[in-house]
This record gives sequence, structure tokens and C-alpha cells, in this order.
Amino acid sequence: MARPRVVVFDAYGTLLDIHSAVGRHALRLGEKAGAVSVLWRAKQLEASWILSAAGTYEGFDAITARALDHALAVHRIRDDGLRAELLGAYRALDAFPDAVAALSRLRAVGIPAAILSNGEPGMLRAAVEASGLAPHLAEVLSVHALRRYKPHPQVYAMVTERFSCQPHEVGFVSSNAWDAYGAGRFGFRVFWVNRAGGPVEYWLDETGTVLRDLSELPA
Ligand code: LAC
Repeated sequence: MARPRVVVFDAYGTLLDIHSAVGRHALRLGEKAGAVSVLWRAKQLEASWILSAAGTYEGFDAITARALDHALAVHRIRDDGLRAELLGAYRALDAFPDAVAALSRLRAVGIPAAILSNGEPGMLRAAVEASGLAPHLAEVLSVHALRRYKPHPQVYAMVTERFSCQPHEVGFVSSNAWDAYGAGRFGFRVFWVNRAGGPVEYWLDETGTVLRDLSELPA
């Protein structure tokens, strides 16, 4: 199979460890930490899909904050300082330990790497700088320009427009199965990063390549 013209990564959960925000404040959250982080993410994604289905849009910054408020309220945590610190931490998430190496391998063989994310440009810029990923990325594309969330096909078309290529020339890497599914439907060559080793979703074992982590990404 021909080498891809560009390899595009999802940001949150794929290159950036979304649970590292709560992880930094785990002592203050105590035994609720894991559940707060999971609910925060679930409500953030749910909002992106529900707003899309309702034909409306609110930026990822705002829905991330609202989702955190929901998760804290469910767990009866009232602490404005902690809330502010968690939102700050979300703008400076840790990269997964295998992320820089995967991006470097692509660069070594001359394949540009990019991000396509639901995140707003400001939060993405902050996150790629803080995590050390910025120097390894040729482009950071945000859905915000379209005011539409993944997995709308128009979002994936941002990549083919930016890199003047056909969908089958794009490698797309995501740990979010629903995102990998949307990208595959658009025609990208999909790599689903199944870090948790969970059951296959959205036929990705047939329509894409399942990776344990980013170290398995072919370059
Ligand atoms: C993103 C979310 C979906 O970065 O993880 O687009």
C-alpha cells in the first residue's frame, strides 16, 4: 500500500491524555477522581453530538467547562478553586508517553503529521505547546472554523482541502472509535488506538487497523 501523504491525529485522548488533568489533582478529589474524569469526558462528548444533532454549535472550551460543572455537581464537589485548576490543567494536558516518538518517526520518513480536533484553536495551541508536541506537527486543524463537530464529513474534508489530497491518501489516527468510524466513512485509512484493549467498536477491525498504542503505528 502506498505511503500516506499526511498522517492526521485526533488530539484529546489520542495524543493528549485527557485524564491527566484530574490526575494532577487526584489527592484533592480522593476516591471520586476517576469517576469525575470519566463523567467529565462523557458529558463533553455527549454535548458535541447533541448540539450537532440539534443543528447548533457552542465552542469546545464552553462545553468542556459545562461538562466539568456537571461532573462536579453529580459528585457534590463545590470548590471554585479546584474547578479553575482543572480547566487550566485541561489546557496543559500531558502527551501520552508514545506520542512524540510516533510523530518523530513520521518526520524521519518525510510524512507530515497534523492534528484534526474538536478543540478550539486557543486551547489546542496551548495544549500542543505545553505537551511538547508543537515542533512535531505540520498543522493543527480545528473544527471551530466550520462550527461543526466530528464526525460530520465536512470536518474531515478540512484535511483533504488543507493538504490538497484525496481521502485515501490520508492516514487517520484516533483512540475515539466513533471518530475513527467517521474518518473511515469519509475515506481515510484509519488506525484505531485501542489502549484499553476494549471490544471492537464500529467494525473497526474490518474497516481499519487496530493498534494497542502509538508505538505500533507504521511509518
Ligand atoms: C478531539 C476529541 C474528539 O480532539 O478528542 O477532537
